[in-house]
This record gives sequence, C-alpha cells and structure tokens, in this order.
Amino acid sequence: MLVCGALAVLAQTKVTLNTDLAKTQINKHIYGHFAEHLGKCIYGGMYVGEGNTKIPNTAGVRNDVIQALRDLKVPNLRWPGGCFADAYQWKDGIGPKANRPKMVNIWWGGVTEDNSFGTHDFLDMCERIGAEPYLAGNVGSGTVKDLADWVTYVNHPAGSPMSELRKKNGRETPWNVKLWGVGNEAWGCGGNMTAEYYSNIYRQYATFMSDHKDAKLYKIASGASDGQYDWTETLMKNIPHNMMQGVALHHYSVLSWGDKGPSVGFSEAQYFKTMDEAWKMDEFIKGHSTIMDKYDPAKKVALIVDEWGGWYNVEEGTNPGFLYQQNTMRDAMIAGLTLNIFNNHADRVKGANLAQIVNVLQAVILTNEEKMLLTPTYHVMKMYNVHQDAKLIPIDIEAPSYEFNGKKLTAVSVSASKDAQNAVNISLTNIDYTKVHEVTINLRGEDFSKVSGQILASSKISDHNTFEQPNKVSIKDFSGAKLEKGVLKLTIPAYSVVVLKVIK
Ligand code: AHR
Repeated sequence: MLVCGALAVLAQTKVTLNTDLAKTQINKHIYGHFAEHLGKCIYGGMYVGEGNTKIPNTAGVRNDVIQALRDLKVPNLRWPGGCFADAYQWKDGIGPKANRPKMVNIWWGGVTEDNSFGTHDFLDMCERIGAEPYLAGNVGSGTVKDLADWVTYVNHPAGSPMSELRKKNGRETPWNVKLWGVGNEAWGCGGNMTAEYYSNIYRQYATFMSDHKDAKLYKIASGASDGQYDWTETLMKNIPHNMMQGVALHHYSVLSWGDKGPSVGFSEAQYFKTMDEAWKMDEFIKGHSTIMDKYDPAKKVALIVDEWGGWYNVEEGTNPGFLYQQNTMRDAMIAGLTLNIFNNHADRVKGANLAQIVNVLQAVILTNEEKMLLTPTYHVMKMYNVHQDAKLIPIDIEAPSYEFNGKKLTAVSVSASKDAQNAVNISLTNIDYTKVHEVTINLRGEDFSKVSGQILASSKISDHNTFEQPNKVSIKDFSGAKLEKGVLKLTIPAYSVVVLKVIK
C-alpha cells in the first residue's frame, strides 16, 4: 500500500456532511446482483447438482456460496439473463429433471443447456440466500402468453392451471415475485428492435403480466446502453407511466469492445481508462435522469442500472464465451466509486445489478471445484451494505484530481447515509494510482462522539485473491480517522476503500 514514499503526495479532499438533512432513502436494491446462464455462473458455480457428494450443497446449490451471499445481504438477484433471458423457455425448466428438454445456449459458448436449473431451483435458492428474485422475461423469442403464464405460475395462489401445475411440481405456496424485467437489451440481443417498436411491445407484454394477491408487480423496461438517450426518451414518451415502474440502463467499464485488456497485469494507462469509464456512470445517470425528469418530474419511474461492472478479456485458456476474469483492486475501485455514484443519485436510481455474481465478469465469488474465494469486489459490497435502506446525507465535496497523461479524474468519491440507529456511515474511495489523499470531513448539523472504520487496501493495484491465497485482499479495521470538534480527519491510501461509522 502506498501510504508514503517517493510517489506519495498528500492532496486535500474537503467534505461537508449535512447530517441533519438526510431524507432520501438509498434503496437497498441498488446493491443487487445478476446471475445468468453463462459460463460457470450457474452450472459449476452456484449450482453443482443434487447428486454432488464432493461439494456440500442444498438442493444442488453450494452451501459456501449460499452462506457468503447471506453474509453479503444480497437484496435481489436478477435471472436468467442477460441475453440468455430472451432465448429462455421457462416451461422447459420445470418438472422432473430427467424429462426436461435441452437447448443450445446460442449466446454463451454454444453449450448445451439441460435446464436442470430452472424456476423452482432459482426461486428456492433466492429464499435460502434471503434475496428477492428479479426475473427477466423473454420478450425477444417468447410469446405474451409464455410470460403471462410465468407470472401466474410463480404468483397465483391456487385454482388456475398454472398454480396447479406449480403445486404438481412440488411448490404449494406462490413465491410472490415482484421484480420483473420485460425483455433485456431489446435494441440488441433481445430482438434488435427500435425504441418505438419496443415501446409498443412493452405495452402489450406488460398488459398481460397480472398482479396477484401478495405480488403487485414492479415492471422494468429494457433500457438504454451508456449514453443512448433517445431510447430512454422514446420509452418515457410512449409507455404510460402507470405500466412501468422502472427503466433499465446498462453500462460496463470496458477499455474497448475490440480488445478489453487483461484483468490482471494491466498498465496505468489501462487503469486510468477503466476509471474514466467507471466515472461515466455518473454522466449517464445524470443524462438519463434529465430526460426522465422532463416526462416524470415526480420521479415515479425509477432508473434501474441492471447491468454494470468491469469487463476484460477472458483469462487465458478459458472459453471465450464464458467471460471468466480475475478481480483485482482495480475492480474494488470500480465498485467503490460506482456505489458512491448510485447512492448519491438515490432519488432516481432505485436498483442496480452488478454483472455477474459468480465466475462471470466482475464476480463477487470465484469457484474452482470444491474451492471458493471472495473477490475484492465482494469485500467492497460488504463494507458498503451499511447504506442499504439508510437515508442519504447530502454532501458538499471538493476533491483533487487523479491526473494521467494530461487527463484528470476526480480522485476521491464519497457518499454517506444515516441508518435506523442514527449512526452515520461514510464510504470513501480513492482511485488515485499513486497519491495518498488527506480528507477532512465536517459533520455539520449534529454532534457525534465516536468513529470506527474499515479499509480495503493492498500493496499493488493488480493484487487479487487466488485459490492458493484466498485472503490476500481482505477487509481490515481502520483506526486512522480522528474525530475532533465535529471534524473527521484521515488519510486515505492510493487505490483503497474506507468506510467509517460515526455515532453520537
Ligand atoms: O452480462 C453479460 C451480457 O452483457 C448480458 O447477457 C447482456 O445483457 C449484456 O450485453
């Protein structure tokens, strides 16, 4: 860790927290995850099969993964895709496993999907993790009836053909799934539609997705990628707002789609570009929110960033269609920065899903046979979970820049919230590659007496956890923050994440 030394220079970050003005709730669903039938996310990752005697499991799902995700407090889990969602036939994934039809996963490696992990497996797994399921409906290649039936199958209490089929398949009570995606990336893998065409299709599909007794549906329209503002504008204009609770947005921190660079052993130029891409989340949220404000000034329709994260070239020797990559301190920086951005936009961003949960893209968990490890990104998500459902504290911030080759990025990002016990949690991420930053935080509005903290830092930006050394990067206690007369002072090391708790 570059605490001091030849390259380390102290720069000043000044923050004021208006602790008495906390109002907007940071929706816990901002801390959501995403599991697609892609590579070793489901098969060989979360799900190892009921007959597996080598890896302890419950109904085929790894016990160590269930426990790690419970500890993380995963609020929701999106499934079965992604691109896969618009090819998925949910009826092939219910009933006796031996009888389930197979299909080819056209999007991810052309592998055979045997449908052994289906609706019951996923929804039961969510219950074990304590996460709300977020089902992505097939609009690209499925019918209106298929999607309407799926809703009824999982939510209708009794007496309908679908609820009776569910019961026959072993589940008496409905799961009451509220979160539904109406297609995915409809402008691309979800059907290559125009925004106008999709708006009409959305209206049609959404009409037949019924609310049930204990499940009023929260329907999310397939949204834009990055700065595709005309997509959001068309949806906000053409879809009645009482039919749509959220509009999605996808943004990946990728160097270039042609060559995404390595996940470990990257240069500072590549690191800087990744951080630049991560900061763009702020620009895109502001851009899409401005359009949404025009049509929905009361902010009734939420922006749901249901895919985000770092995307690199796959690890050498792995299937290019499986998107398996390592996860370093660079990914911890993406996570810390992005979550601060989401928190600070809590008035419009009400949900988000990191892509993806296990063994794919910016995963929080990697597995290899019976081994499992938690990545730096896992640790950041865990440190930040104190913000779930807490009240956002408005902040004023003056932060110096991280400069590289004449370009500048804000080095330190901050967000803060007040929890149900009136404790204030402050998360800080310093993306600077070389500089330690001195931070002064003025706690305006209320008096506090005690501070404690945690830090995620490591000596090299490329540091990561391996199956041989699973705890190389891990959370440590941080006692470097001093509180005096309502002012907190600390120095935050280069490429590190600090979360502080102050109490009265
Ligand atoms: O997360 C991987 C893929 O990225 C998803 O399937 C798709 O929605 C996006 O393009």
